[in-house]
Amino acid sequence: MRRLLVIGNWKLNGNKNTITNLIVRLVMACASVSKCSVAVAPPVMYLDLVMRYLTNSNILMCAQDVDIHISGAFTGDVSAAMLQDLNTRYVLIGHSERRIHHKENDAYIAKKFFILKKIGLIPILCIGENKREYDAGHTQSVCLNQIKSVIKLLGVEAFKDSVIAYEPIWAIGSGMSASPESVQIVHKLIRNYIANYNVSIANKIVIQYGGSVTPENVTQFLNQKDIDGVLVGSASLNADSFSMIVRAAENHDKSHSYLNDK
Ligand code: 13P
Repeated sequence: MRRLLVIGNWKLNGNKNTITNLIVRLVMACASVSKCSVAVAPPVMYLDLVMRYLTNSNILMCAQDVDIHISGAFTGDVSAAMLQDLNTRYVLIGHSERRIHHKENDAYIAKKFFILKKIGLIPILCIGENKREYDAGHTQSVCLNQIKSVIKLLGVEAFKDSVIAYEPIWAIGSGMSASPESVQIVHKLIRNYIANYNVSIANKIVIQYGGSVTPENVTQFLNQKDIDGVLVGSASLNADSFSMIVRAAENHDKSHSYLNDK
């Protein structure tokens, strides 16, 4: 059975004070978590500050992005080796905000995937369609193409011990989450596509949903068979909301949802 994974993506938010407050409260709230995995993705500037509070906690470190180079003359960039040096476990790549604001394309994101695997960090490949593609009924082809670019460069084995996060762009920060049933269809499609290459990797890969996840709707997502956790933006900036989401995952018995699955 796959272990549920809950990650808070803090994006470009916070300062020393608010971030210290948030992480202190989250460490306490997650002190007894054992059944799901939890991570936070602070702005890179505060990774070291946050990490000081994570030692001996149940919360893991996630970075929001990485460069394709390990070192050298690349002003302003952050390497996988540096993230590993700070004990980072997960790294988001291909978030729609990077694709949109920094013009990152699938081939470039596949190179980030490569460098993370090489260094031994866990890539979280973010995929998802925009509103226009959604309205045109292109969700499935858009998502599969984003996955294919990694398979083309690295082979399907790259997805072993990796994570995929399906985040429909129109659901991000909009307060309008996708319906759990429609997300399940996309997640199943992704798993089936990977299974065409390798059934064992497909069965083990963690596929998260992201896009306006809240304490109120999280359980409906986790009830779906192929939703293995959530990637949370806004609600992760509030210690109470994020703790409630973590608690929902911790208390969720995934075996129940399998009963309804034929
Ligand atoms: P929201 O939860 O604010 O919609 O953000 C989702 C997201 O982009 C997480 O990476």
